[in-house]
Amino acid sequence: MASIMAKHVTHCLCIIIASFCLIVTASDPDILSDFIVPENTNASALDGSFFTFTGMRGIFRSPAPPNVKGTQASMVEFPALNGQSVSMAVLQFAPGGINPPHTRPHATGLLFVVEGSLEVGFVDTSNKLYTQTLQAGDMFIFPKSLIHYQYNADASKTAMAIAAFGSANGESVSIPATMFEDGIDDGILAKALKTDVATIQKIKAGLAPKA
Ligand SMILES: *[C@@H]1O[C@H](CO)[C@@H](O)[C@H](O)[C@H]1NC(C)=O
Repeated sequence: MASIMAKHVTHCLCIIIASFCLIVTASDPDILSDFIVPENTNASALDGSFFTFTGMRGIFRSPAPPNVKGTQASMVEFPALNGQSVSMAVLQFAPGGINPPHTRPHATGLLFVVEGSLEVGFVDTSNKLYTQTLQAGDMFIFPKSLIHYQYNADASKTAMAIAAFGSANGESVSIPATMFEDGIDDGILAKALKTDVATIQKIKAGLAPKA
């Protein structure tokens, strides 16, 4: 009897610990202070400016970029976000602009289209693709760390979206850049993609910045 009870208790404990781990890893680590004061900063000299980010002033009037431009406000640009589990970015798309497949290993992304329209999609871990055409006013969620993209299919209109991230670290990892611009051997890439080295080199040449 006692051993059955002990088994039950152990089982429950395991479930509680497992759930706790899931909760903890679903967002940035919780902090034990109101906010994190950067090193070498006099905490008593902090004022409202520390909690203010002005780096996007004028962004809604700025001209369309050549393809796509992302302006990030994560903890690198805005140190007060450290420990607060949120960050943002503004994405501006030229007509036909594409934000190639990428992941954000640390952050769920909530995309809010404020101008134009966007074709978006992500692929889950069972390789299922989810796509949508978004209009201004629509939101779409990219689950944390899954590969996703956005494309402005309109050849004449610009598009703009605001992305909110569930982490102070909204860092993205571009799939084309990671695969073809970080020095992985051409022969390895050719084998992995079941093609030849010439094709890999052609892809690399297409991705290289134009002089
Ligand atoms: C920290 O800031 C407070 C308030 O501005 C000031 O009185 C104090 O002298 C500063 N301390 C140091 C070590 O700079």
